[in-house]
Amino acid sequence: MINIKSDREIELMRIAGKYNQLTFKELEKYLKPGISTGKLDKIVYDFIIKNGCVPSTLGYQGYPASVCISINDEVVHGIPGKRVIKDGDIVSIDLVLSYKGYHADATRTYIIGNVPLEVKKLVDNTKNAFYEGVKQVKEGARICDISRAIEKYAHEHGLSVVEELVGHGIGSAMHEKPDIPNFNTNDYTKLKAGMTIAIEPMLNLGSKHIYVEDDDWTVKTFDGKPSAHYENTVLVTKDGYEILTGD
Ligand code: MF3
Ligand code: CO
Repeated sequence: MINIKSDREIELMRIAGKYNQLTFKELEKYLKPGISTGKLDKIVYDFIIKNGCVPSTLGYQGYPASVCISINDEVVHGIPGKRVIKDGDIVSIDLVLSYKGYHADATRTYIIGNVPLEVKKLVDNTKNAFYEGVKQVKEGARICDISRAIEKYAHEHGLSVVEELVGHGIGSAMHEKPDIPNFNTNDYTKLKAGMTIAIEPMLNLGSKHIYVEDDDWTVKTFDGKPSAHYENTVLVTKDGYEILTGD
């Protein structure tokens, strides 16, 4: 069963989406070479609590932080700590918070200082792939329309698609049905107005293969090449979509 949100629920998700955007704005003030990922996590935690929201990842299946910070060859679920951000890194920040019980999930990959052109293209094209996917969204569209559009764009730009992690429905739970894969699974499930979904391409410069670190969370590329991630929470409407977490 895929949840269809009521007008009240959609309003709460819009507010959660606004707070998610504001939290990114706050974090961006501090995101510079020399800051530790643990310090960024503390800034996020304090800002979320100050605004009457709740950090969704903190304590989720034992995850120990309010934000996931994944650098370079880390794909997702990097745990903030002592690691310091430096010039030449790409830093994916995946942030989920809830407002009055409704979650908003978004990820941005930031370029810190100078990176090779191919890495800049990886970051830009991961964002573009999200927009290729979201352009498919409207009542009556199929999940595979989103998946195929993202996969096609990634492959046309020489990038590979991580398959083990996927987008998802979102609402009063951080993860709801349906899955939204970034590669074609021939899922002909139809979208309906009032569904809310997180679309989140994770694209690699090298091969698609990944592994999980000894901390049981950090997902890394098998070949050590960089990976980028871009995500928004999206409301399905009669003739299109509304992005609830900005851009
Ligand atoms: N934003 C991530 C997602 O889309 C959340 C990771 S949650 C973690 O699923 F707590 F499991 F790290
Ligand atoms: Co997500």
